[in-house]
Amino acid sequence: MKSLFDRTQLSNISLKNRFIRSATWEELADKKGHMTKELFKVYENLADGGIGALITGYAFVTKDEQPNPGMMGIYNDSFIEEYRALTDMVHKYDTQIILQIAYGGSQTNFDLGKRIIWGPSSVENSVTKVIPDEMTKEEIKVLIKAFADGGLRAKKAGFDGVQLHGAHGYLLSQFLNPYYNRRNDQYGGSIENRSRIIFEIYEAVREKVGKDFPILIKVNCGDFMDNGLTLEESLYTSKKLSEMGIDGIEISGGCASSKPNEGPVRIKVNSKEKESYFKEHARRIASEVDTPIILVGGNRSIDVMDEILNNTDIEYFSLCRPLLCEPHLINRWAKGDTTKAKCVSCNKCFEVVGKTCIFNR
Ligand SMILES: Cc1cc2nc3c(=O)[nH]c(=O)nc-3n(C[C@H](O)[C@H](O)[C@H](O)COP(=O)(O)O)c2cc1C
Repeated sequence: MKSLFDRTQLSNISLKNRFIRSATWEELADKKGHMTKELFKVYENLADGGIGALITGYAFVTKDEQPNPGMMGIYNDSFIEEYRALTDMVHKYDTQIILQIAYGGSQTNFDLGKRIIWGPSSVENSVTKVIPDEMTKEEIKVLIKAFADGGLRAKKAGFDGVQLHGAHGYLLSQFLNPYYNRRNDQYGGSIENRSRIIFEIYEAVREKVGKDFPILIKVNCGDFMDNGLTLEESLYTSKKLSEMGIDGIEISGGCASSKPNEGPVRIKVNSKEKESYFKEHARRIASEVDTPIILVGGNRSIDVMDEILNNTDIEYFSLCRPLLCEPHLINRWAKGDTTKAKCVSCNKCFEVVGKTCIFNR
């Protein structure tokens, strides 16, 4: 029988348990995306809390594109040294750390009018009303290189891997989404074409970081909106990435344009049935894909995760809001207090700089 506390190997990453902190934008980096003392402390507290690996908040790969304030950056070499201090610190706790890299796009309300915002097509975002510039093929090349450079910087800074943010309605997820991607060149149309930018980014990052450095991706199992990505299509993208050699796939779902409470960060996860809300989708993907699958979204109870671990091919569980509420949750569980996470999934954490739980103030 598998245990949530097994030590396992996810590609070249040795994990002391099967729990991962899912990427969380803390809003604590400075204006240019650099580390602050507060942000460093957040990671130290999490590393001390027993988690197997931490995925950072999404870090922007091009200097001028930041969908939210206080995000971490990775757009030039000036970040390498400060992130080296971060990774060295986290490793002292026998915790691993993965940098999530991203490009935002039209799902933003931040600094509008001051920057160029790219999209697969010039389609108005249904929530923010931002109309992005349709990317030219030259711009796609620039973006691919920016991801690859970001990946290499992550390696140089001592991260244990890099995660491409392909989920939640940000640019790469919009390429996968037929509502937002109306292109009729090789980057639009069929799911093969809509996934192409992700495949090219994966290849470009791999080329730079070499075969031994773990590359993961976070993808949607579906967009939960009219004319969004479907499970079957998502399965295609994951299978192909798996064949190409990706090291881990984190399954999430939804975006700001999703139907009410069908986005990535669902509220009122107040019964065991509602927990681990992408489990059926992830179960299907895990059964057909030969790469470790990480399930995110509403993981709250040890027994629910234990059941999934032992009855599906899902190997890892990542958590975001429960760790904003209880950064030492995994230690609590490891020590035998296995009552479920205290997080009530109210999403009030979004309203606070630092993204801490309002009930802890
Ligand atoms: C405050 C906050 C910030 C988040 N930032 C990111 C992010 O930077 N990248 C990302 O992929 N997901 C981000 N997410 C989504 C989480 O990683 C996760 O997919 C979602 O919260 C569902 O998991 P949970 O039920 O454990 O919170 C964020 C969620 C919250 C609440």
